Amino acid sequence: MNAMTKISSASADTKATEVRFAKENIIISATDPRGVIQFANDTFVEVGGYSLDELLNAPHKIMRHPEMPKGVFYLMWEHLKAGKPVCAYVKNKTKSGGYYWVFAVVTHTENGYLSARIRPSSELFEATKEIYATLLEEEKGAGLTPEQSGARLLEMLQEAGYSSFEDYGTKALNNEFKSRDIIAPELANSFLLMDELVDIISDMQNLVNSIEQGFERVRGEPVNLRILAGRLEGAGAALGTISQNYDAMAKEMHGLVGRLHDPENGSLVQMFDAVSQGRWAMQIAQILNEAHAQGGPDTAEDEGAALLKEHNERLQQSSRSRLIEISSIGKSIPDICRSLRRRINGLDVVKLLCKVESGRMRDVDSGLDGIIARLENFHDNTDRHLADLSAKASQVTQKGSSL
Ligand SMILES: Cc1cc2nc3c(=O)[nH]c(=O)nc-3n(C[C@H](O)[C@H](O)[C@H](O)COP(=O)(O)O)c2cc1C
Repeated sequence: MNAMTKISSASADTKATEVRFAKENIIISATDPRGVIQFANDTFVEVGGYSLDELLNAPHKIMRHPEMPKGVFYLMWEHLKAGKPVCAYVKNKTKSGGYYWVFAVVTHTENGYLSARIRPSSELFEATKEIYATLLEEEKGAGLTPEQSGARLLEMLQEAGYSSFEDYGTKALNNEFKSRDIIAPELANSFLLMDELVDIISDMQNLVNSIEQGFERVRGEPVNLRILAGRLEGAGAALGTISQNYDAMAKEMHGLVGRLHDPENGSLVQMFDAVSQGRWAMQIAQILNEAHAQGGPDTAEDEGAALLKEHNERLQQSSRSRLIEISSIGKSIPDICRSLRRRINGLDVVKLLCKVESGRMRDVDSGLDGIIARLENFHDNTDRHLADLSAKASQVTQKGSSL
């Protein structure tokens, strides 16, 4: 038995026996694209009780525990096939009928997948067990297909506050990572910077939300202007034109703001994805690094160590390129802000024209003053938010390029 593997089991033969392995142990397997095992490390053999011969060329299904909901594996494969890494809690069966829980991080290799499993220790693990138990009951009660169970799992995760399976996986990885102390000193700074980037990007998201809300609030003003124009003779024609111009410019601006926070491919979403994927890759690389270090000098030459080393390097490379992406996305934001601010100036001209009309109609209680005050307020706020947004984007570029 590997000296670092401490396995405690209450009894050797009952189904309820939980096999616990040491926090510092990592269970590794690598598979071909179908999930057939091509490599397993010693810890995998020790914890699961299957010999290396039994594991090699076998599907992972041999250790599938009947209490694992089908939906988890459905989502796992959907994400893997879409090229995304997966983090999930999994209950596995041991050869002797016991079980062990793992937090698994599954990533892509040149010719298949690699799963690194650690002992779960975060609070999210407890919450996840409850979700799995409910899902399993529903699966059995309603005879859900794997796809239906996957959809139910997504719903449950959303109810618990996660926007997606990926979002849940990222938070779970963060939690597990934090509950251990495995940040290499030379990377501590990078992790800190990434945390700062996440904060700045979420501040930027808040600013864009405020700008959006501003748009929402003044959306009705061009219509108010048109109504006013209808009521007034003479000055009404000018107001009608002003209202049309304002409407067109506000719509164009709104489109530009949308480019920033479109949920599919807006700059902010891309930045957020880049930073979380960069962070994710770096965390996984750290976990693998631990496993590599754990192998000790004896295994330095073996296939597993080489595989981990190579995989680790590739993950770090992918993390670096994602982070470079952040700074280039960050660079494009001040440009968008500049265009928006130019349009605000255009809106200011329209607002001035309103003021002129308002001066002419001094004796009429037209409501125009109120409209102008609201537009003025909107312009000032939007201008301020855009200036802040631009400054934050520059911070992202600067921090992103120093990673
Ligand atoms: C790299 C990798 C590691 C996996 N590890 C496990 C595992 O530890 N336990 C497990 O039950 N399934 C694991 N799976 C998922 C299995 O391939 C399979 O989907 C699952 O056991 C459920 O079986 P089913 O899809 O035939 O229902 C893994 C898949 C991959 C690609």
